[in-house]
Amino acid sequence: MTEPDRPLRLDAPREEALEHAVKLVTEAWRSFDRFRPEEPPLGERVRALLRTSLPQEPSAVHEALDDTARILDQSIAQPRPRYFAFIGSSGLEIGTIADLLAHTYDVNLAVDSRAATEIERQAVRWAAEFIGYPADCAGAFTSGGTVSNTSALAAAREFALPGSRHEGLGGKRVAVYCSQEVHYSITRAIEMLGIGSSNLRAIPLGEDRGMLPDLLAAAIDEDRAAGVNAVAVVATAGTTLTGAIDPLDAIADVCEERGVWLHVDGAYGLPAAAVRPDLFRGFERARSVSVDAHKWLYLPKACGVVLVRRQEDLAAAFAHEEGYLPHQRHELHAVDFTFEYSRPFRALKLWLALRAHGAQAFREAIERNLREARLLYETVSARPDFEALGEPRLSIVPFRHVPEGVGDLNAHNQRLGDALQADGRVWIATALIDGDVWLRPCFVNFRTTEEDVLDLVEIAAEVGERLA
Ligand SMILES: Cc1ncc(COP(=O)(O)O)c(C=O)c1O
Repeated sequence: MTEPDRPLRLDAPREEALEHAVKLVTEAWRSFDRFRPEEPPLGERVRALLRTSLPQEPSAVHEALDDTARILDQSIAQPRPRYFAFIGSSGLEIGTIADLLAHTYDVNLAVDSRAATEIERQAVRWAAEFIGYPADCAGAFTSGGTVSNTSALAAAREFALPGSRHEGLGGKRVAVYCSQEVHYSITRAIEMLGIGSSNLRAIPLGEDRGMLPDLLAAAIDEDRAAGVNAVAVVATAGTTLTGAIDPLDAIADVCEERGVWLHVDGAYGLPAAAVRPDLFRGFERARSVSVDAHKWLYLPKACGVVLVRRQEDLAAAFAHEEGYLPHQRHELHAVDFTFEYSRPFRALKLWLALRAHGAQAFREAIERNLREARLLYETVSARPDFEALGEPRLSIVPFRHVPEGVGDLNAHNQRLGDALQADGRVWIATALIDGDVWLRPCFVNFRTTEEDVLDLVEIAAEVGERLA
Protein backbone atom coordinates (compact mmCIF):
# COMPACT_ATOMS: atom_id res chain seq x y z
CA MET A 1 0.00 0.00 0.00
CA THR A 2 1.40 3.41 -0.84
CA GLU A 3 1.12 6.54 1.28
CA PRO A 4 -1.29 9.21 0.02
CA ASP A 5 0.10 12.32 -1.63
CA ARG A 6 0.74 14.81 1.16
CA PRO A 7 3.47 17.01 2.58
CA LEU A 8 6.11 15.71 5.00
CA ARG A 9 6.87 12.42 3.32
CA LEU A 10 10.04 10.54 4.14
CA ASP A 11 12.44 9.39 1.45
CA ALA A 12 11.57 5.78 2.29
CA PRO A 13 8.17 4.23 3.10
CA ARG A 14 7.18 4.93 6.73
CA GLU A 15 6.78 1.17 7.33
CA GLU A 16 10.42 0.72 6.42
CA ALA A 17 11.46 3.55 8.76
CA LEU A 18 9.46 1.91 11.54
CA GLU A 19 11.07 -1.47 10.87
CA HIS A 20 14.48 0.16 11.04
CA ALA A 21 13.54 1.89 14.32
CA VAL A 22 12.31 -1.43 15.73
CA LYS A 23 15.70 -2.96 14.93
CA LEU A 24 17.41 -0.10 16.79
CA VAL A 25 15.10 -0.47 19.79
CA THR A 26 15.74 -4.21 19.90
CA GLU A 27 19.49 -3.64 19.89
CA ALA A 28 19.16 -1.08 22.68
CA TRP A 29 17.05 -3.43 24.82
CA ARG A 30 19.63 -6.20 24.36
CA SER A 31 22.40 -3.83 25.38
CA PHE A 32 20.48 -2.93 28.56
CA ASP A 33 20.18 -6.56 29.65
CA ARG A 34 23.75 -6.55 30.92
CA PHE A 35 26.10 -3.82 32.10
CA ARG A 36 28.51 -2.41 29.58
CA PRO A 37 32.19 -2.09 30.38
CA GLU A 38 32.38 1.68 29.87
CA GLU A 39 30.44 4.77 28.85
CA PRO A 40 31.72 5.72 25.39
CA PRO A 41 32.83 9.32 24.78
CA LEU A 42 31.23 11.43 22.03
CA GLY A 43 32.36 10.05 18.67
CA GLU A 44 33.50 12.05 15.70
CA ARG A 45 30.22 11.55 13.85
CA VAL A 46 28.17 12.95 16.76
CA ARG A 47 30.55 15.89 17.12
CA ALA A 48 30.11 16.64 13.42
CA LEU A 49 26.32 16.48 13.78
CA LEU A 50 26.50 18.99 16.62
CA ARG A 51 28.13 21.49 14.26
CA THR A 52 25.33 21.34 11.65
CA SER A 53 22.87 24.22 11.34
CA LEU A 54 19.14 24.00 10.64
CA PRO A 55 18.73 21.44 7.84
CA GLN A 56 16.76 22.93 4.95
CA GLU A 57 16.81 19.79 2.83
CA PRO A 58 15.85 16.23 3.80
CA SER A 59 18.32 13.54 4.80
CA ALA A 60 17.82 9.86 4.15
CA VAL A 61 15.63 8.65 7.01
CA HIS A 62 17.70 5.47 7.54
CA GLU A 63 20.83 7.55 7.97
CA ALA A 64 19.07 9.99 10.32
CA LEU A 65 17.81 7.08 12.41
CA ASP A 66 21.30 5.60 12.62
CA ASP A 67 22.60 8.98 13.81
CA THR A 68 19.81 9.09 16.38
CA ALA A 69 20.86 5.67 17.68
CA ARG A 70 24.49 6.87 17.87
CA ILE A 71 23.45 9.93 19.90
CA LEU A 72 21.40 7.81 22.29
CA ASP A 73 24.18 5.26 22.65
CA GLN A 74 26.56 8.06 23.63
CA SER A 75 24.13 9.42 26.23
CA ILE A 76 23.83 8.28 29.84
CA ALA A 77 20.87 5.90 29.72
CA GLN A 78 19.17 5.18 33.04
CA PRO A 79 17.87 1.72 32.02
CA ARG A 80 21.38 0.24 32.18
CA PRO A 81 21.66 -2.10 35.18
CA ARG A 82 24.64 -0.26 36.66
CA TYR A 83 23.07 3.18 36.58
CA PHE A 84 22.92 3.93 40.32
CA ALA A 85 22.92 7.74 40.35
CA PHE A 86 20.08 10.00 41.59
CA ILE A 87 16.72 8.19 41.33
CA GLY A 88 16.74 6.56 37.93
CA SER A 89 14.13 4.86 35.87
CA SER A 90 14.46 1.72 33.86
CA GLY A 91 12.55 2.18 30.62
CA LEU A 92 10.39 -0.93 31.10
CA GLU A 93 9.87 -2.29 27.58
CA ILE A 94 6.08 -2.45 27.69
CA GLY A 95 6.09 1.23 28.68
CA THR A 96 8.11 2.09 25.58
CA ILE A 97 5.62 0.18 23.46
CA ALA A 98 2.72 1.94 25.18
CA ASP A 99 4.36 5.30 24.50
CA LEU A 100 4.75 4.48 20.83
CA LEU A 101 1.08 3.55 20.58
CA ALA A 102 -0.10 6.52 22.65
CA HIS A 103 1.98 8.95 20.61
CA THR A 104 0.78 7.38 17.38
CA TYR A 105 -2.83 8.20 18.23
CA ASP A 106 -1.71 11.44 19.91
CA VAL A 107 -4.78 11.50 22.12
CA ASN A 108 -5.04 14.70 24.15
CA LEU A 109 -6.10 14.18 27.73
CA ALA A 110 -6.80 17.89 28.24
CA VAL A 111 -10.44 17.19 27.43
CA ASP A 112 -12.67 14.17 27.26
CA SER A 113 -11.12 11.58 24.96
CA ARG A 114 -13.68 8.81 25.41
CA ALA A 115 -11.92 5.50 26.14
CA ALA A 116 -8.58 7.14 27.00
CA THR A 117 -10.25 9.32 29.64
CA GLU A 118 -11.89 6.27 31.21
CA ILE A 119 -8.60 4.34 31.11
CA GLU A 120 -6.84 7.22 32.87
CA ARG A 121 -9.48 7.04 35.64
CA GLN A 122 -9.00 3.31 35.89
CA ALA A 123 -5.19 3.65 35.97
CA VAL A 124 -5.52 6.25 38.75
CA ARG A 125 -7.59 3.74 40.75
CA TRP A 126 -5.10 0.93 40.03
CA ALA A 127 -2.17 3.10 41.14
CA ALA A 128 -4.07 3.89 44.35
CA GLU A 129 -4.93 0.25 44.94
CA PHE A 130 -1.34 -0.82 44.35
CA ILE A 131 0.04 1.48 47.04
CA GLY A 132 -2.96 1.21 49.38
CA TYR A 133 -4.57 4.64 49.01
CA PRO A 134 -8.40 4.68 49.30
CA ALA A 135 -9.86 3.32 46.08
CA ASP A 136 -12.57 6.01 45.87
CA CYS A 137 -9.90 8.67 45.35
CA ALA A 138 -9.46 10.79 42.24
CA GLY A 139 -6.41 12.16 40.48
CA ALA A 140 -4.55 12.51 37.24
CA PHE A 141 -1.37 11.55 35.46
CA THR A 142 1.29 14.25 35.39
CA SER A 143 4.80 14.72 34.06
CA GLY A 144 6.18 13.69 37.45
CA GLY A 145 6.70 14.61 41.06
CA THR A 146 7.23 18.31 40.43
CA VAL A 147 3.89 18.81 38.70
CA SER A 148 2.11 16.42 41.07
CA ASN A 149 3.41 18.31 44.10
CA THR A 150 2.57 21.69 42.58
CA SER A 151 -0.95 20.53 41.71
CA ALA A 152 -1.55 19.16 45.20
CA LEU A 153 -0.27 22.33 46.86
CA ALA A 154 -2.44 24.49 44.59
CA ALA A 155 -5.42 22.50 45.92
CA ALA A 156 -4.14 22.89 49.49
CA ARG A 157 -3.78 26.67 49.11
CA GLU A 158 -7.33 27.02 47.85
CA PHE A 159 -8.58 24.74 50.63
CA ALA A 160 -6.84 26.79 53.33
CA LEU A 161 -7.63 30.18 51.79
CA PRO A 162 -10.69 29.90 49.52
CA GLY A 163 -10.55 32.44 46.70
CA SER A 164 -6.78 32.89 46.90
CA ARG A 165 -6.31 31.56 43.35
CA HIS A 166 -8.16 34.67 42.14
CA GLU A 167 -7.29 37.28 44.73
CA GLY A 168 -3.76 36.20 45.60
CA LEU A 169 -2.76 36.06 49.22
CA GLY A 170 -3.67 39.71 49.75
CA GLY A 171 -1.05 40.19 52.45
CA LYS A 172 -2.24 37.18 54.45
CA ARG A 173 0.54 35.47 56.35
CA VAL A 174 0.94 31.83 55.36
CA ALA A 175 3.22 28.85 55.94
CA VAL A 176 3.85 25.36 54.60
CA TYR A 177 5.60 22.76 56.77
CA CYS A 178 7.96 20.03 55.67
CA SER A 179 11.03 18.12 56.77
CA GLN A 180 14.50 19.59 56.40
CA GLU A 181 15.14 17.08 53.63
CA VAL A 182 12.08 17.78 51.50
CA HIS A 183 12.60 17.65 47.72
CA TYR A 184 13.22 21.01 46.08
CA SER A 185 10.09 20.63 43.94
CA ILE A 186 8.12 21.58 47.06
CA THR A 187 10.15 24.77 47.47
CA ARG A 188 9.62 25.54 43.81
CA ALA A 189 5.87 24.92 44.08
CA ILE A 190 5.62 27.23 47.09
CA GLU A 191 7.44 29.95 45.18
CA MET A 192 5.24 29.57 42.12
CA LEU A 193 2.05 29.57 44.19
CA GLY A 194 2.98 32.92 45.69
CA ILE A 195 3.42 31.48 49.17
CA GLY A 196 7.13 32.26 49.12
CA SER A 197 9.89 29.85 50.02
CA SER A 198 10.81 31.81 53.12
CA ASN A 199 7.42 30.67 54.43
CA LEU A 200 8.43 27.04 54.10
CA ARG A 201 9.11 25.83 57.63
CA ALA A 202 11.75 23.12 57.57
CA ILE A 203 11.07 21.01 60.66
CA PRO A 204 14.15 19.35 62.20
CA LEU A 205 14.78 15.64 61.78
CA GLY A 206 14.88 12.85 64.32
CA GLU A 207 17.49 10.11 64.41
CA ASP A 208 15.94 8.23 61.51
CA ARG A 209 15.97 11.46 59.47
CA GLY A 210 12.18 11.78 59.65
CA MET A 211 10.41 15.05 60.54
CA LEU A 212 9.78 15.36 64.30
CA PRO A 213 5.98 15.49 64.74
CA ASP A 214 6.09 17.31 68.10
CA LEU A 215 8.13 20.10 66.59
CA LEU A 216 5.74 20.19 63.65
CA ALA A 217 2.76 20.59 66.00
CA ALA A 218 4.55 23.30 67.95
CA ALA A 219 5.48 25.18 64.77
CA ILE A 220 1.90 25.18 63.48
CA ASP A 221 0.49 26.25 66.87
CA GLU A 222 3.01 29.04 67.27
CA ASP A 223 2.33 30.29 63.78
CA ARG A 224 -1.41 30.24 64.32
CA ALA A 225 -1.10 32.15 67.57
CA ALA A 226 0.84 34.77 65.61
CA GLY A 227 -1.84 34.97 62.89
CA VAL A 228 -0.08 32.82 60.28
CA ASN A 229 -2.30 30.47 58.21
CA ALA A 230 -1.09 26.88 57.93
CA VAL A 231 -1.61 26.04 54.25
CA ALA A 232 -0.27 22.49 54.23
CA VAL A 233 2.08 19.97 55.74
CA VAL A 234 4.21 18.04 53.26
CA ALA A 235 5.45 14.70 54.54
CA THR A 236 7.94 12.76 52.48
CA ALA A 237 7.57 9.02 51.98
CA GLY A 238 11.09 8.27 50.82
CA THR A 239 13.40 11.29 50.78
CA THR A 240 15.57 11.81 47.73
CA LEU A 241 18.71 12.09 49.81
CA THR A 242 18.55 8.95 51.95
CA GLY A 243 15.16 7.28 51.46
CA ALA A 244 13.96 8.30 54.94
CA ILE A 245 10.24 8.20 55.62
CA ASP A 246 8.59 10.84 57.78
CA PRO A 247 6.46 9.41 60.63
CA LEU A 248 3.29 9.56 58.59
CA ASP A 249 0.72 8.39 61.14
CA ALA A 250 1.89 10.85 63.78
CA ILE A 251 2.00 13.66 61.22
CA ALA A 252 -1.52 12.76 60.05
CA ASP A 253 -2.66 13.08 63.71
CA VAL A 254 -1.11 16.55 63.95
CA CYS A 255 -2.80 17.61 60.72
CA GLU A 256 -6.22 16.15 61.54
CA GLU A 257 -6.28 17.71 64.99
CA ARG A 258 -5.62 21.10 63.41
CA GLY A 259 -7.58 20.72 60.17
CA VAL A 260 -4.45 21.23 58.08
CA TRP A 261 -4.04 19.70 54.61
CA LEU A 262 -1.56 16.81 54.57
CA HIS A 263 0.25 16.08 51.32
CA VAL A 264 2.53 13.04 51.10
CA ASP A 265 5.33 13.28 48.56
CA GLY A 266 5.90 9.65 47.71
CA ALA A 267 7.27 10.36 44.24
CA TYR A 268 10.17 8.00 44.88
CA GLY A 269 9.21 5.79 47.81
CA LEU A 270 5.49 5.09 47.77
CA PRO A 271 5.54 2.10 45.39
CA ALA A 272 7.32 0.29 48.24
CA ALA A 273 4.11 0.63 50.30
CA ALA A 274 2.89 -2.29 48.17
CA VAL A 275 5.43 -4.55 49.89
CA ARG A 276 6.19 -2.77 53.21
CA PRO A 277 2.88 -1.18 54.21
CA ASP A 278 4.04 -0.95 57.84
CA LEU A 279 6.69 1.67 56.90
CA PHE A 280 4.07 3.93 55.35
CA ARG A 281 1.22 3.54 57.82
CA GLY A 282 -0.86 6.73 57.92
CA PHE A 283 -0.09 7.91 54.38
CA GLU A 284 -3.60 6.87 53.34
CA ARG A 285 -4.95 9.61 55.61
CA ALA A 286 -3.32 12.31 53.46
CA ARG A 287 -5.58 14.57 51.42
CA SER A 288 -3.16 14.29 48.52
CA VAL A 289 -0.31 12.06 47.47
CA SER A 290 2.32 12.08 44.70
CA VAL A 291 3.80 8.90 43.27
CA ASP A 292 5.96 8.57 40.19
CA ALA A 293 5.63 5.59 37.90
CA HIS A 294 8.84 6.69 36.16
CA LYS A 295 10.85 6.02 39.29
CA TRP A 296 10.09 2.85 41.23
CA LEU A 297 7.43 1.50 38.91
CA TYR A 298 10.08 1.20 36.21
CA LEU A 299 8.23 3.02 33.42
CA PRO A 300 9.90 5.43 31.01
CA LYS A 301 9.58 9.14 31.75
CA ALA A 302 7.42 11.06 32.05
CA CYS A 303 4.80 9.40 34.20
CA GLY A 304 3.68 10.71 37.58
CA VAL A 305 0.37 10.46 39.40
CA VAL A 306 -1.26 12.91 41.78
CA LEU A 307 -3.98 11.40 43.94
CA VAL A 308 -6.52 13.28 46.05
CA ARG A 309 -9.22 12.10 48.41
CA ARG A 310 -11.76 14.43 46.77
CA GLN A 311 -11.68 15.52 43.16
CA GLU A 312 -13.48 18.73 44.18
CA ASP A 313 -10.30 19.90 45.87
CA LEU A 314 -8.33 19.82 42.61
CA ALA A 315 -11.29 21.33 40.77
CA ALA A 316 -11.50 24.17 43.30
CA ALA A 317 -7.94 25.08 42.33
CA PHE A 318 -8.11 24.58 38.57
CA ALA A 319 -11.69 24.64 37.18
CA HIS A 320 -12.47 27.49 34.80
CA GLU A 321 -14.83 28.60 32.08
CA GLU A 322 -13.54 29.64 28.66
CA GLY A 323 -15.34 30.10 25.38
CA TYR A 324 -13.21 27.45 23.70
CA LEU A 325 -14.04 24.88 26.38
CA PRO A 326 -17.74 25.17 27.19
CA HIS A 327 -19.18 22.89 29.83
CA GLN A 328 -22.44 21.97 28.10
CA ARG A 329 -21.65 18.28 27.80
CA HIS A 330 -19.09 17.71 30.48
CA GLU A 331 -19.28 18.94 34.00
CA LEU A 332 -15.51 18.86 34.27
CA HIS A 333 -12.89 18.65 31.56
CA ALA A 334 -9.55 17.18 32.63
CA VAL A 335 -8.09 20.70 32.51
CA ASP A 336 -10.57 21.61 35.25
CA PHE A 337 -8.62 19.48 37.71
CA THR A 338 -5.12 19.37 36.18
CA PHE A 339 -2.35 21.90 35.87
CA GLU A 340 -1.39 21.16 32.26
CA TYR A 341 -3.44 21.77 29.14
CA SER A 342 -2.24 19.50 26.31
CA ARG A 343 -1.54 16.27 28.12
CA PRO A 344 -0.36 13.04 26.49
CA PHE A 345 -1.93 9.71 27.35
CA ARG A 346 0.62 8.89 30.05
CA ALA A 347 -1.79 6.65 31.91
CA LEU A 348 -1.62 4.11 29.11
CA LYS A 349 1.87 2.95 30.02
CA LEU A 350 1.00 2.18 33.62
CA TRP A 351 -2.27 0.57 32.57
CA LEU A 352 -0.62 -1.59 29.93
CA ALA A 353 2.30 -2.49 32.19
CA LEU A 354 -0.04 -3.60 34.98
CA ARG A 355 -2.10 -5.61 32.50
CA ALA A 356 0.86 -7.23 30.82
CA HIS A 357 2.91 -8.04 33.93
CA GLY A 358 0.33 -8.06 36.74
CA ALA A 359 0.80 -6.23 40.05
CA GLN A 360 2.60 -9.18 41.67
CA ALA A 361 5.55 -8.92 39.26
CA PHE A 362 5.99 -5.27 40.30
CA ARG A 363 5.93 -6.21 43.98
CA GLU A 364 8.61 -8.83 43.33
CA ALA A 365 10.79 -6.36 41.42
CA ILE A 366 10.51 -3.84 44.29
CA GLU A 367 11.38 -6.58 46.81
CA ARG A 368 14.43 -7.41 44.73
CA ASN A 369 15.60 -3.76 44.81
CA LEU A 370 15.11 -3.72 48.59
CA ARG A 371 17.24 -6.87 48.86
CA GLU A 372 19.93 -5.27 46.68
CA ALA A 373 20.02 -2.24 48.99
CA ARG A 374 20.38 -4.57 51.97
CA LEU A 375 23.14 -6.54 50.22
CA LEU A 376 25.11 -3.37 49.54
CA TYR A 377 24.66 -2.20 53.11
CA GLU A 378 25.85 -5.55 54.53
CA THR A 379 28.75 -5.82 52.10
CA VAL A 380 30.19 -2.38 52.85
CA SER A 381 29.50 -2.70 56.58
CA ALA A 382 31.54 -5.91 56.70
CA ARG A 383 34.61 -4.24 55.14
CA PRO A 384 37.16 -2.10 56.97
CA ASP A 385 37.68 0.17 53.95
CA PHE A 386 34.05 1.32 53.65
CA GLU A 387 31.34 2.68 55.88
CA ALA A 388 27.60 3.02 55.36
CA LEU A 389 25.53 5.98 56.55
CA GLY A 390 23.10 3.62 58.23
CA GLU A 391 20.65 0.83 57.56
CA PRO A 392 18.66 1.65 54.43
CA ARG A 393 15.02 2.42 54.98
CA LEU A 394 14.24 1.86 51.31
CA SER A 395 16.62 1.43 48.38
CA ILE A 396 19.10 4.30 48.81
CA VAL A 397 22.37 3.31 50.52
CA PRO A 398 24.84 6.16 51.07
CA PHE A 399 28.32 4.77 51.70
CA ARG A 400 31.88 6.01 51.50
CA HIS A 401 35.42 4.84 51.10
CA VAL A 402 37.44 5.17 54.31
CA PRO A 403 40.87 3.72 53.53
CA GLU A 404 43.58 3.97 56.14
CA GLY A 405 45.82 7.00 55.90
CA VAL A 406 43.39 9.31 54.08
CA GLY A 407 42.87 12.49 56.10
CA ASP A 408 40.24 14.38 54.12
CA LEU A 409 37.52 11.82 53.49
CA ASN A 410 35.24 14.36 51.82
CA ALA A 411 37.83 15.34 49.24
CA HIS A 412 38.72 11.67 48.73
CA ASN A 413 35.12 10.57 48.17
CA GLN A 414 34.41 13.48 45.86
CA ARG A 415 37.42 12.52 43.78
CA LEU A 416 36.27 8.91 43.91
CA GLY A 417 32.80 9.85 42.65
CA ASP A 418 34.32 11.82 39.77
CA ALA A 419 36.81 9.05 38.99
CA LEU A 420 34.04 6.43 38.92
CA GLN A 421 32.12 8.48 36.37
CA ALA A 422 35.26 8.84 34.27
CA ASP A 423 35.85 5.07 34.59
CA GLY A 424 32.30 4.37 33.42
CA ARG A 425 31.91 0.77 34.58
CA VAL A 426 29.30 1.93 37.09
CA TRP A 427 27.38 5.19 37.04
CA ILE A 428 27.06 6.73 40.47
CA ALA A 429 26.76 10.24 41.90
CA THR A 430 27.90 11.72 45.18
CA ALA A 431 25.66 13.52 47.65
CA LEU A 432 26.30 15.92 50.52
CA ILE A 433 24.77 14.57 53.71
CA ASP A 434 25.23 16.61 56.90
CA GLY A 435 28.08 18.37 55.13
CA ASP A 436 29.93 15.17 54.22
CA VAL A 437 30.44 13.63 50.80
CA TRP A 438 28.96 10.17 50.27
CA LEU A 439 28.50 7.91 47.30
CA ARG A 440 24.75 7.58 47.03
CA PRO A 441 23.48 4.66 44.98
CA CYS A 442 19.77 4.12 44.55
CA PHE A 443 18.25 0.81 43.42
CA VAL A 444 15.13 1.31 41.35
CA ASN A 445 16.04 -0.73 38.28
CA PHE A 446 14.54 -4.15 37.62
CA ARG A 447 17.59 -5.07 35.51
CA THR A 448 20.11 -4.69 38.35
CA THR A 449 21.47 -7.97 39.72
CA GLU A 450 23.36 -8.97 42.86
CA GLU A 451 26.49 -9.25 40.71
CA ASP A 452 26.06 -5.57 39.78
CA VAL A 453 25.77 -4.64 43.46
CA LEU A 454 28.89 -6.58 44.47
CA ASP A 455 30.85 -5.24 41.52
CA LEU A 456 29.91 -1.69 42.51
CA VAL A 457 31.76 -2.24 45.79
CA GLU A 458 34.72 -3.93 44.11
CA ILE A 459 35.07 -1.23 41.47
CA ALA A 460 34.74 1.55 44.07
CA ALA A 461 37.43 -0.18 46.18
CA GLU A 462 39.78 -0.58 43.20
CA VAL A 463 39.41 3.02 41.99
CA GLY A 464 39.45 4.34 45.57
CA GLU A 465 42.69 2.48 46.39
CA ARG A 466 44.33 3.97 43.36
CA LEU A 467 43.33 7.49 44.47
CA ALA A 468 44.30 6.94 48.07
C1 LIG B 1 10.72 12.82 46.79
C2 LIG B 1 10.71 13.45 45.42
N1 LIG B 1 9.76 14.34 45.11
C3 LIG B 1 9.71 14.93 43.90
C4 LIG B 1 10.64 14.66 42.93
C5 LIG B 1 10.57 15.34 41.57
O1 LIG B 1 10.05 14.43 40.65
P1 LIG B 1 10.17 14.69 39.07
O2 LIG B 1 11.62 14.70 38.76
O3 LIG B 1 9.44 13.51 38.50
O4 LIG B 1 9.49 15.98 38.78
C6 LIG B 1 11.66 13.75 43.21
C7 LIG B 1 12.70 13.45 42.20
O5 LIG B 1 13.62 12.71 42.43
C8 LIG B 1 11.69 13.12 44.48
O6 LIG B 1 12.64 12.24 44.80
